[in-house]
Amino acid sequence: MNTPHNPRPQLVCASANPDKVAEIEFILRDVVDLVARPADVPDVVEDADTLEGNARLKAVAICEATGVPAVADDTGLEVLALDGAPGVYSARWAGEGCSYADNRNKLLAELGGETDRRAVFRTSVLVRWPDGRELVVDGVCPGTIALADRGEGGFGYDAVFVPDEGDGRSFAEMAEADKHAISHRGRAFRNLLDALSAAGE
Ligand code: IMP
Repeated sequence: MNTPHNPRPQLVCASANPDKVAEIEFILRDVVDLVARPADVPDVVEDADTLEGNARLKAVAICEATGVPAVADDTGLEVLALDGAPGVYSARWAGEGCSYADNRNKLLAELGGETDRRAVFRTSVLVRWPDGRELVVDGVCPGTIALADRGEGGFGYDAVFVPDEGDGRSFAEMAEADKHAISHRGRAFRNLLDALSAAGE
């Protein structure tokens, strides 16, 4: 795939979440041609019990529908004082059809005045080729959960997540490039680029 005639690998992005697709495009823009998933392929039910399992469900569905390599990511926020919740259930933690704000409010309510607010964002990325080959990488970002929403940027739990390697701002208070430099997704996709290059793709 990565030849002098076609120097940029082409991957179909299996994610249907526009916030995540925008981030993935931003992170990969210099190296990979990311193709949007076909609109007529139905969303898969993400019912695996691991991030990698859900990433595989999405990548396999899109790879089979398009016949070209597909990339999928699945992300979870693991809060230590909540025994790792919401983890793989991060998307619909506050209930079916819930908003990002509903999830953040549930998180703040469940933590209450808890002083141990440590948490980890974890992303699993999986590429699936039509011949069945797979590449799996991950990325983590440790941090703490803020006492209330802070910032207007980002999406999901960004307004309550303060990364350890930052300067005290929540992800939602950071410029996009600053978030990706230390985020779970930034790390996972940079690991993917290294793995693709090592595999000669
Ligand atoms: P998904 O299953 O990978 O789509 O992610 C599950 C949920 O985690 C999303 O619906 C968001 O609420 C949240 N999430 C994923 N990535 C991020 C992120 O980078 N920042 C904040 N929240 C995120």
